Amino acid sequence: LRDAQRERLERLLPDLEITTPDIGATLDPGTLFGARVTQPLWLEVGFGAGEHLIWQAETNRDVNFIGCEPFLNGVARVVTGIDEGALDNIKIFPDDARIILSALPDQSVDRAFILFPDPWPKLRHQKRRLIGPATLTHFARILTDGAELRIATDYSNYKDWILHYVLASEKFEWTARRPVDWRERPTDWPATRYEAKADAAGRACAYFRFKRRQRQG
Ligand SMILES: C[S@@+](CC[C@H](N)C(=O)[O-])C[C@H]1O[C@@H](n2cnc3c(N)ncnc32)[C@H](O)[C@@H]1O
Repeated sequence: LRDAQRERLERLLPDLEITTPDIGATLDPGTLFGARVTQPLWLEVGFGAGEHLIWQAETNRDVNFIGCEPFLNGVARVVTGIDEGALDNIKIFPDDARIILSALPDQSVDRAFILFPDPWPKLRHQKRRLIGPATLTHFARILTDGAELRIATDYSNYKDWILHYVLASEKFEWTARRPVDWRERPTDWPATRYEAKADAAGRACAYFRFKRRQRQG
């Protein structure tokens, strides 16, 4: 980090930061957003430089956001964006998503985004992929009935992997009816920096939207 970034981060992050909960502890989103507690909650995991998170928070002022990203440069950018936009609807979890996924209560999140998770292309590294049975069990648990789970990737093997694991969980339904429904980015889904790199390299992106099925009984 440059000195100016570090100074901004140290000044602004304490008010925005969600501190890492103890193992096994529950994180009550109600304690994070004060009077805004009754608003819907959306979660973005691995927000990178944060342009998608900032756009969503500016566009949906009545929604609360938790952004999760362990990469400090990204956190510094988002903190600056929040300050410049005077946004009061974002909290930052600057740590591993798996921690906050375990800590959030059942049915507490109304939409989740995982945009271009690291693809880990080598076969022996695929077990490091963020999307898999363990994280999907948590997403199924924390998402409300009918909530949307949005996942993007530009890596063809990861497209198949995502569809395989999400649909195997049976808690999610794929909303696409035609190829265009997942090959084209919807208008309420701005492009990210990583996506711009994929485009420049000629890699086609998938924009998956899954719906959390209704719970039975
Ligand atoms: C390929 S980048 C994509 C960033 C951004 N979403 C975009 O589209 O430009 C993947 C991001 O996921 C973050 N990431 C990796 N593992 C993570 C984890 N366990 N929890 C949260 N974020 C993670 C990385 O730090 C990185 O910023």
